[in-house]
Amino acid sequence: MPVLDNLNVRAVTVVATVSVSAYFIYRKIVEPLHYFEQIGIPGPTPVAFLGNLPDLEEGIHLAHVALKEKYGKVFGLIIGRKPQIVVCDVNILQKILIENFNGFCNRRGFQLLPYDNLKYGVNTLRDREWRRVRSILMPAFTLESCEELAPIIAKSCNILLIKFLQASYTEQALNISSAMNQFATEITMVTLFGQPGKLQTSVNVRPDKLTIAINSIFRVPPMTSLLILAIPPLSSYLLKINSTGFRYLESVCYRAIRRKRERIAEKMECQRDLLQLMLEADRNGKLNDTDIASQSLTYLLTSYHPLKNGLCFLVYLIATHKEVQNRLIREIDENLPNRELPTQKEISKLVYLDAVIKETLRLYPATFIYHREAVEDCSINGFFFPKEVTIAIPVYAIHRDPEIWPNPSSFRPERFLSDDANSARHPCSYLPFGVGARACMATHFVTMIFKMMLVITLRSIKFKTVAETEVPLSTTSLASLQPMYDVYLGIERRVYVDSI
Ligand SMILES: *[C@@H]1O[C@H](CO)[C@@H](O)[C@H](O)[C@H]1NC(C)=O
Ligand SMILES: *[C@@H]1O[C@H](CO)[C@@H](O)[C@H](O)[C@H]1NC(C)=O
Ligand SMILES: *[C@@H]1O[C@H](CO)[C@@H](O)[C@H](O)[C@H]1NC(C)=O
Repeated sequence: MPVLDNLNVRAVTVVATVSVSAYFIYRKIVEPLHYFEQIGIPGPTPVAFLGNLPDLEEGIHLAHVALKEKYGKVFGLIIGRKPQIVVCDVNILQKILIENFNGFCNRRGFQLLPYDNLKYGVNTLRDREWRRVRSILMPAFTLESCEELAPIIAKSCNILLIKFLQASYTEQALNISSAMNQFATEITMVTLFGQPGKLQTSVNVRPDKLTIAINSIFRVPPMTSLLILAIPPLSSYLLKINSTGFRYLESVCYRAIRRKRERIAEKMECQRDLLQLMLEADRNGKLNDTDIASQSLTYLLTSYHPLKNGLCFLVYLIATHKEVQNRLIREIDENLPNRELPTQKEISKLVYLDAVIKETLRLYPATFIYHREAVEDCSINGFFFPKEVTIAIPVYAIHRDPEIWPNPSSFRPERFLSDDANSARHPCSYLPFGVGARACMATHFVTMIFKMMLVITLRSIKFKTVAETEVPLSTTSLASLQPMYDVYLGIERRVYVDSI
């Protein structure tokens, strides 16, 4: 009976196709949506394909604050199809970041990017390799190293001051975003390669190839970070956006490293910059050119955004808090009255300045989120953390937690002035640079740039709000936490200014 046979075959094919598709749909689309139900972690209900991406639309940092209110201090999100456990509980974080650090030492770095030269960066390396490279590099990032780089940083700050003084004559609102963008680009380059900056003054000069390349890789398109989380295979495509710029930077890095190695071999005097410090830190020559280039490119990619945005937040807060600005100016005038370039040591004595920087980084932590993953399945305080599932540490939400920081949205540097308050604070309640063995290596460095910028500029000018200044500031979270719109401020010369 061939007819029946045919029918049978067709039926079997249809049934098989339907079941395979159903199984596939279940495994790939439905099952991931129930992931957190199965392990008993609360969270908003995800939708197919997008997961909880729609819940993050208003900005990841703001969503974390709202979701914590609703679901408690540990909740789950599905980003596309990938589960992520968000932990706002400082006691659990203490176990993850400090006490049981070895169980959570890895994080997502630049593994997803199509550039081999980023794979050996401290951000990305895992386990033993990470430990090895980090311990070799640590001496390049100490306070003493900051002292060595202080002169080149001060030079860039002086150029920024000249720009501020020019704005004070024209009495026009200054585009602070643009000024800090150029300043941060220049600082990143000058600290790494020791290349003297023409960036800030290059309005009429044709920017050189390096500047163009740097600007092209710094222009991370909006939403990229979210999309990469959601659809890892797309990340190569998305971030290949300017590989020309990146390849050029790679070649600049390798050339600079080779030149430095030659000069070191011939015992010639070398420019003090981060590249030099890293090569010197590697006393026994354990790191090859790829390793060093990887660290350099990682530094370029990770420091620019937080630096630029941190500086914008800092001057915005000072302009909007006159009493803070006046007290800062008094401290600077009393302690560093002369017009010499201040040293790192002199600057580190200014306690109010330190408190202002800390409070700025609390309110607006440019790095508003970190990631870790468990090496093995484990349970902490009743929550299950499966192996290799991303754990998100929502720095912004922790910094705005009223249980830890009373009146969290007000700017009060005094919070950081009393030693008692500082020592009573939970070690995981303040995380602008992370904490524990995987904390940011460049902490002293970034802090010094902020401080140097304020000391040098506030000796001559004051920041003030103008009609164009958005108060309060709205923020958005892309590559880092940043002001939603460009920041504009007025610049006023301080009356006594003689000549500079
Ligand atoms: C202000 O600076 C930002 C950042 O450089 C730039 O994108 C924007 O176009 C500038 N605004 C104006 C009005 O020039
Ligand atoms: C990529 O960078 C190169 C130079 O580094 C530049 O000429 C080019 O315009 C950039 N392309 C895009 C799409 O930004
Ligand atoms: C440099 O060292 C890394 C390991 O740190 C290794 O994977 C790589 O192959 C080395 N590169 C060269 C050119 O020797």
